[in-house]
Amino acid sequence: MPPLSLPETVRWTDGRLWIIDQTLLPGDVKEVPLDTAQAVWQAIQTLMVRGAPAIGVAAAYGLCVAIRPFMDESSAQLRRQIQDQAAYLTASRPTAVNLQWALDRMMAAADQVAASTANQVLFDRLLACATAIHADDQAQCLRIGQAGLPLIRSGMGILTHCNAGALATTGLGTATAPLYVAHQQGIAFRAYADETRPLLQGARLTSWELQQAGIDVTLQTDNMAAHLMSQGLIDMVIVGTDRVAANGDIANKIGTLSVAINARHFGIPFYVAFPSSTVDLNTACGADIVIEEREADEVTGLYGHRIAPANIKVRNPAFDVTPAALITGFITDQGLLLPPFDTGLQQLFGN
Ligand code: MRU
Repeated sequence: MPPLSLPETVRWTDGRLWIIDQTLLPGDVKEVPLDTAQAVWQAIQTLMVRGAPAIGVAAAYGLCVAIRPFMDESSAQLRRQIQDQAAYLTASRPTAVNLQWALDRMMAAADQVAASTANQVLFDRLLACATAIHADDQAQCLRIGQAGLPLIRSGMGILTHCNAGALATTGLGTATAPLYVAHQQGIAFRAYADETRPLLQGARLTSWELQQAGIDVTLQTDNMAAHLMSQGLIDMVIVGTDRVAANGDIANKIGTLSVAINARHFGIPFYVAFPSSTVDLNTACGADIVIEEREADEVTGLYGHRIAPANIKVRNPAFDVTPAALITGFITDQGLLLPPFDTGLQQLFGN
């Protein structure tokens, strides 16, 4: 098999942060630089860069971008800015814990540098930390792929929801990682991508990146998934997640809960793939996860074209919570984890 050519979601080159603008995909594959804190915040908030691990990596580099204007200030001022800019970037999206996790790791790196250290040395240390977060993400995706590989057999139909792919990370993705690894090993399977209303991450992103990699992928609208299951076309579901609570409840893209309920009805295994950076043992259960509510126009329109009546009441929660009881297993960078999840998560990811 030739090596996979995957999109480079986030990169730091010659002192600049670059992302693929995912709002333009698949029509236009365009990289844009993010040169200010505001540009980084905006890019995360508007989903130019999205997916839990990718926004963690973008925010880590983004903090380096954000503190640059303060390099000539006193060391104390620069350190205050590190805190303030991290808080600002964290507020761009609330549900994916990877964002907070990456920025906490950056602030911890700053705290380890002595107060008397020159600003440039402190900056270099932060950039090294962001680079390490980036490299860790790539390595963790690969390990998720290897952990999930034994689940994939030739001829299977595998459904995924939203995009937990290369575009949502800086490596092989999470839900897609076992698919990429299996594909490279010559295992032939069928992938099914849910369209994922309202912002169509499945139609625009997952189907595009799997197709680019030469994987057999079929796109369907979200309300077709149960029908495909009833026809015996789906043997397994793998999704990603934005936050895993201590009891094993997970938050993921809106619609994931319906997929899990349908999978349980049809007796189809439902797996959730994630790296350590997505585990939040400080959140006891799914009910404690903050669910982002986004603008109404994402629901009332499609690509700038209004499809709903004026003044209609709208709900637009971007995520839902799937209870641990509906989940067959976790595919993680630390290996496969089966219930009971609370003790297993503590053992694998507790301090
Ligand atoms: O709103 P998005 O597109 O950022 O939502 C992304 C998801 O829900 C993904 O499934 C999740 O972040 C896991 S990404 C590996």
